[in-house]
Amino acid sequence: MTSQTGRQIDTVMQESRLFPPRPSFSDKARIKSLAEYEALWNKAAADPANFWGELAREELHWFEPFTEALNWKEPFAEWFVGGKTNASYNCLDAQVAAGQGDRVAILWEGEPGDSRQLTYAELHREVSKFANCLKSLGVGEGDVVSIYMPMVPELAIAMLACARIGAIHSVIFAGFSAEAIADRNNDAQAKVQITADAAWRRGKALPLKQTVDEALAKSPSVEHCIVLNRVNEAVEMKSGRDHWWRDLMAKASDDCPATPLDSEAPLFILYTSGSTGKPKGIKHTTAGYNLFAKKTFQWVFDHREDDVFWCTADCGWVTGHSYVVYGPLSAGATCLMYEGAPNFPDEGRFWEIVEKYKVSIFYTAPTAIRAFIKWGDEHVEKHDLSSLRLLGTVGEGINPEAWMWYHKKIGGERCPIVDTWWQTETGGIMMSPLPGAIPTKPGSCTKPLPGIIPEIVDESGKLVGANQGGWLTIAHPWPGMLRGIWGDDDRYKEVYWSKVQGKYLAGDNARCDDDGYYWIMGRIDDVLNVSGHRLSTIEIESALVSHPNVAEAAAVGRPDDLKGEAVAVFVTLKNVEPSDELRSALKQHVRKEIGALAQPDDIRFTNSLPKTRSGKIMRRLLKDIAAGKETVGDTTTLEDYTVLASLREEE
Ligand code: WTA
Repeated sequence: MTSQTGRQIDTVMQESRLFPPRPSFSDKARIKSLAEYEALWNKAAADPANFWGELAREELHWFEPFTEALNWKEPFAEWFVGGKTNASYNCLDAQVAAGQGDRVAILWEGEPGDSRQLTYAELHREVSKFANCLKSLGVGEGDVVSIYMPMVPELAIAMLACARIGAIHSVIFAGFSAEAIADRNNDAQAKVQITADAAWRRGKALPLKQTVDEALAKSPSVEHCIVLNRVNEAVEMKSGRDHWWRDLMAKASDDCPATPLDSEAPLFILYTSGSTGKPKGIKHTTAGYNLFAKKTFQWVFDHREDDVFWCTADCGWVTGHSYVVYGPLSAGATCLMYEGAPNFPDEGRFWEIVEKYKVSIFYTAPTAIRAFIKWGDEHVEKHDLSSLRLLGTVGEGINPEAWMWYHKKIGGERCPIVDTWWQTETGGIMMSPLPGAIPTKPGSCTKPLPGIIPEIVDESGKLVGANQGGWLTIAHPWPGMLRGIWGDDDRYKEVYWSKVQGKYLAGDNARCDDDGYYWIMGRIDDVLNVSGHRLSTIEIESALVSHPNVAEAAAVGRPDDLKGEAVAVFVTLKNVEPSDELRSALKQHVRKEIGALAQPDDIRFTNSLPKTRSGKIMRRLLKDIAAGKETVGDTTTLEDYTVLASLREEE
C-alpha cells in the first residue's frame, strides 16, 4: 500500500457525509430507490446465471438463441452457450431497425476545433464499408487487427468493423512506443495494422505512422497497414503493405451484413500491466461483454433518450472500449468523442465542450479532476454547465476533497456522482452508486451492481468482517469477465484463480463498512496507478536494465498530488559515473521502450539497492525513501545497512 493510499484511507475512514439522491432525479431514474435496488440485487444474487440469461434475451439481438446461460468450469466461463449474435449489429443495425437511424451516434470534436457528427445510419454505412475494406485485405473471423490511432471517429469505425466480421481488435493507446506495439503485435500475431499519419496533441503532430513503421519492422505477422490521413503529415508508404484509408473506402461497397458469431467468439484483446514485465492480453468475447457493457451503461449512467454522454477516456483503454463504443452505442446513446488534451488551447477546453454540445453526463478520471482544481475555478466559471445532470469517475479512488470540488464546481451541487470501480479484466463497471437509488459517500464506490457478488477475504480465503480490510474477490462469474489471457491459460489461472479458492481475485485491497459500502484501498501487487493508468514496476525496471549503463533498477510509486502516484526509480550503474545527461537519457530510454506514460519522474543513482538476505529488493523501504518518509518497520533482514544510509544522503 502506498503512503498516498494510506493518507487517503485515513481521510476516507473518517468520511461520514452522505448524499442521498434528490427526489427530482430519482423520480425519473430507471432504478428509483434503495429498496428497488436491493430487491433487484437480491433477485440477481439468488440465481445470477438466470438473471443474466433473461437480460441477454431481452437486450441483445440473437441470430440463433442460446441454449444455456452459463457453463462454468472454473476458471473458464462460457456465457449464453450456443447462441449467435454480433456486437456491431447490436450497436448499429439494431438502432437503425428500431427507427433510430437519424439519431446522432457520435458527436466528435477535434483538437484544432473541427467537428463532425455521425448518425446511427451513417455510422452503420461507414462501418460496413470499412469492414469490406478489411475483407479485401484478407481479414476474416478470428484474425487479429492491431489499432494505433488518435481519438477520431475512424477509431470507433475500425473497432466496429472488426466486430462486424468476427475479427479481433487489439487497440494500443497512441502514447505507446514502437517497442510496445511490436511486443503486442507479436503476442497477438496481428495480421493487419491500422493507424493514422499523425495525431494532434497540444497543437503538435505526433508522428504515429513513423512509430508504426518502426514497430512493423519487428512485427513479422502484420501483412498490411491501413493509414488514415488525419493531420496531413508526410509519411512513407511501403508499396504492397501500406494503404490509404480513403483509397480503400473509395472502392468499398457499403453492403456488409454482420456475421452471426458464436457468443464466445473473441471480440477484442486489450493489453494491460500485471505484476510481471510482460503485459497481459486480456481477452473479451462477444455476447457476455456486449450485454455487460450495455446494461452497466444503462444502470450506472441512468441513460435517457435526450442525453449527451461524454466519457473522456481514450479508446486505447478499457474505459473507451466499454463507455465510448460498446456500452453507449448498443444502448442507442449519443456519445461525444474528443480528440485532444484538456488544456488545449487553454484549461477551459473541457467546459467549453460541455457548453457547446450541452453534455448531460460527464465521465472522467480523478487525476483530471485534480488537474482542474490546480488550474483554477476561473476556467470552469466562464462556462455554462447547466446541461449536466450526472457526473462519474473511474480509474482510481477519488479523495473526498476532490469529490466535493467536483460536486460543487462542476455538478452545481445538483448532479449525483457515480464513482465506478472496475478493471480491464471485468469488462465493465462492477461497483458504483445507481444514481437515483444509492446515497453516495465521497470516496466510496458504494455498492455492487445487480448480478455482482463481491467478497472481501483474508490471505487464507476466509471472509473478513465489516470494516476489516482484505483482498477484494468476486464470488460468482459475470458476463463481462475476461475469458483468459491471450495465449497463456496458466498465467490466467495463476494470477486470478490460484490464491483464493473458487473466486476471482481482483488484485485490489478493499474494506466494506457497516452500511455495506465498499472502499477501495489500492493494489495488492506491484502495479502502479499513474494518472489512472496501470503500470508494472517490473516492466519499468526491465526497460531500464536494457540500457547499457544500468546494472540494476528498482521502480516504486511515490505519492503525487496530480498523478496519484508518480514513478520513482533507483538505479545502480555500470562503467559510468552518474550525471544529469544520463538521467535524461534514461528517461528517454523508458519512453522509447514503453511510452511517455511510463517515463520515470525521479531517477536516483545509488551504489547498491537494499536487499533482503535472500536477495529480494526491499521495495517498502525504497517507497518510504521516495516518499521522503522516515523509514519505519522492520529492517532486520536488510543485507547491508549502509545502503539505506547512502540512499538517504542522496536526497
Ligand atoms: C483501480 C480501469 C478505486 C483499481 C477501469 C483497479 C479504482 C484498477 C477505481 C483497474 C475506483 C479503477 N476506485 N480504484 N473507482 N477504478 N481503480 O484495468 O486499482 O485500467 O484494479 O481499469 O484501477 O485499472 P484498469
